[in-house]
Amino acid sequence: MSFDVFSFEELIAFDQQYIWHPYTAFGSPGSILPVKSASGVRICLEDNRELIDGISSWWSCLHGYNHPLLNQAVTSQLSKMAHVMFAGFTHEPAVTLAKKLVEITPTGLNKVFFSDSGSVAVEVAMKMALQYWISQGQSQRCKFLTIKQGYHGDTLAAMSLCDPHSGMHHLFHQALTHHFFAEAPSAHFDEELNEKNFDHFAQVLKRNKQNIAAVILEPIVQGAGGMKFYAPEYLKRVRELCDEYNLLLIADEIATGFGRTGKLFACEHAGISPDIMCLGKALSAGYITLAATLCNDKVSEGISGGPASIFMHGPTYMANPLACAVANASIDLLLNQNWQSSVQKIEQQLKTELSPCKLIPGVKDVRVLGAIGVIEMEEKIDTQTLMLSIINKGVWLRPFGNIIYLTPPFIISKEDLSHLTTSVCELVREMQPVTGVSAVI
Ligand SMILES: Cc1ncc(COP(=O)(O)O)c(C=O)c1O
Repeated sequence: MSFDVFSFEELIAFDQQYIWHPYTAFGSPGSILPVKSASGVRICLEDNRELIDGISSWWSCLHGYNHPLLNQAVTSQLSKMAHVMFAGFTHEPAVTLAKKLVEITPTGLNKVFFSDSGSVAVEVAMKMALQYWISQGQSQRCKFLTIKQGYHGDTLAAMSLCDPHSGMHHLFHQALTHHFFAEAPSAHFDEELNEKNFDHFAQVLKRNKQNIAAVILEPIVQGAGGMKFYAPEYLKRVRELCDEYNLLLIADEIATGFGRTGKLFACEHAGISPDIMCLGKALSAGYITLAATLCNDKVSEGISGGPASIFMHGPTYMANPLACAVANASIDLLLNQNWQSSVQKIEQQLKTELSPCKLIPGVKDVRVLGAIGVIEMEEKIDTQTLMLSIINKGVWLRPFGNIIYLTPPFIISKEDLSHLTTSVCELVREMQPVTGVSAVI
């Protein structure tokens, strides 16, 4: 049997026999489509159907697929070296990237720790905060304070920060370390802060301040926990409280970083700088997995100056040169163009073209921020059924819970974005006849 030439059907059959896909069960993985290639905003399947990617391969491919400059960065680096361990060695792509990240992230973040995925970047951030307090002789500070409806990844410690009840990891609640959760921010992005709601956060913080190592949250956009956009004033006040009570603040910018919300980093909406920041996803433009955890002098000096000065983390593929090279090229590509204008145009078009959905029965809310468009339904969506309709329309989306969202590559044309928004509006309309109200699992 040849292992390199499969028919379309064989690919699917062997895939289902051997491979686990994200968030699926063996035996009923839903539809799995073999991809042959991808270019620009289009994903080409093995049977030559094309899909317009409306979610940038989970927020990562901000410049689209198969970009000549990014390809060039990888091949040029490949001709020098694909990888070298980072213990005892350094290399130009990593140093350049660290320097760039320090320059473009909020003031004060000036130390960089590279790792291989967003979840690990969150684990590293947590370890930094814990080790900081161990170095200060306050090892009882081993808890984190976060907000409900958050999502920070799938590894064990990251899961412990996801909403313990409504989040996708509630199954593991008993097995996870229990941290402190405040009510999710109730004021939307363009609303005034709800003082009563913020007071809940303040009370949880004040009650437990002696045991808290850090506050961690997704700035402005709560992604996989429900795609909520909250008031920048909330984040500003969190920063103020952390300063007042001498707590570290960790901003998880893994989804929001690199322009997605209309600012280069979502923290900029509130004009704040965290003590620790996590980056991933768009950092390496969807090419090779890479993440980074940045911190300020307070954290790095706090750790280095104490008895536990060695930071105990070191992934095998830390600062992989190929990943760093493509990240450098991606950041240059982003900053050398008027990306703000591209994101604003996407934002405007999403607002105009998704707004008719507000009138469709079963739709709870339609919201847009930067290059993120969200349709929130009243009820849970039958995602398995919806995926078939999505693919038949020649688009690629991954609805979850009661949410259909769009996070297209910034390079998307007006016409392709219209195809996406028209498809979304049709999908939402088509959901109605199925149950009379909306499709429910
Ligand atoms: C805010 C946030 N943090 C962390 C993660 C985890 O990143 P990764 O999937 O690369 O582990 C994600 C992924 O969706 C995310 O959105």
